[in-house]
Amino acid sequence: MSAPHRYSLMMRAIHWLMAIAILGLIASGWFMAGLDKSVDYKYDIYPWHKSFGVLILFLLVLRIVIRLFSKIPPLPSTMPKIEKGLAHLGHTLLYLLMFLVPASGYLMSAAAPGREVAMFGWVLPNLVEKDKELASLLHDIHEVIPYVLLGVIAVHLLAVIKHRMFDHPDHDSLKRML
Ligand code: HEM
Ligand code: HEM
Repeated sequence: MSAPHRYSLMMRAIHWLMAIAILGLIASGWFMAGLDKSVDYKYDIYPWHKSFGVLILFLLVLRIVIRLFSKIPPLPSTMPKIEKGLAHLGHTLLYLLMFLVPASGYLMSAAAPGREVAMFGWVLPNLVEKDKELASLLHDIHEVIPYVLLGVIAVHLLAVIKHRMFDHPDHDSLKRML
């Protein structure tokens, strides 16, 4: 059987679903954290951010399972080795951050004294001891790495534009994901 030219429907669906959710989470996190404590709806946004944030962890597990059972279209044989290497490196970094960003958010909230983490009202088990210092460290991490993820997403987008507009038509990666 010949190799596929694009990602499977399931891979494409979960890529775009997670892309929208993650960009929305970065925007909502930035927005809600920047609001003054006196703004009355500030803490109405937090449970939604946390719920969709934890959902990303479940979707990531599902995505990895789908990927294991999907045929991945090979990169064009004419693509320079260095570009293939960079693509793999970039995608690996995206997968790593798709785990680390929500994991740090969940652990930060789980470690914070007097709080429980819920996902759309369903209270989740606390996987860590309550510890103010740990919560504060995780808070510092969760304040920074979503923006590192945003930076990697920007490079990802630039790479897609480069391959579509300034490259051989066979190297158009967007066709593989549409
Ligand atoms: C992919 C998933 C996630 C993304 C992209 C994301 C992104 C962000 C961003 C950009 C901020 C603002 C940081 C700042 O400027 O200070 C933020 C704040 C926050 N996030 Fe997330 N987050 C995710 C998952 C989670 C999860 C799973 C939780 C908890 C269960 C969580 C809890 C929080 C809380 C409580 C804040 C506010 C911290 C503060 O008030 O200073 N996040 N998030
Ligand atoms: C914002 C617009 C986005 C566009 C236009 C876009 C486009 C693409 C395209 C065309 C590919 C296929 C690359 C290939 O040829 O193999 C791809 C793969 C990928 N994208 Fe995106 N993407 C976007 C957002 C995101 C976001 C937000 C994330 C996650 C944070 C993400 C994570 C990934 C990953 C991990 C792969 C590799 C898939 C795999 O082989 O498992 N993308 N993307």
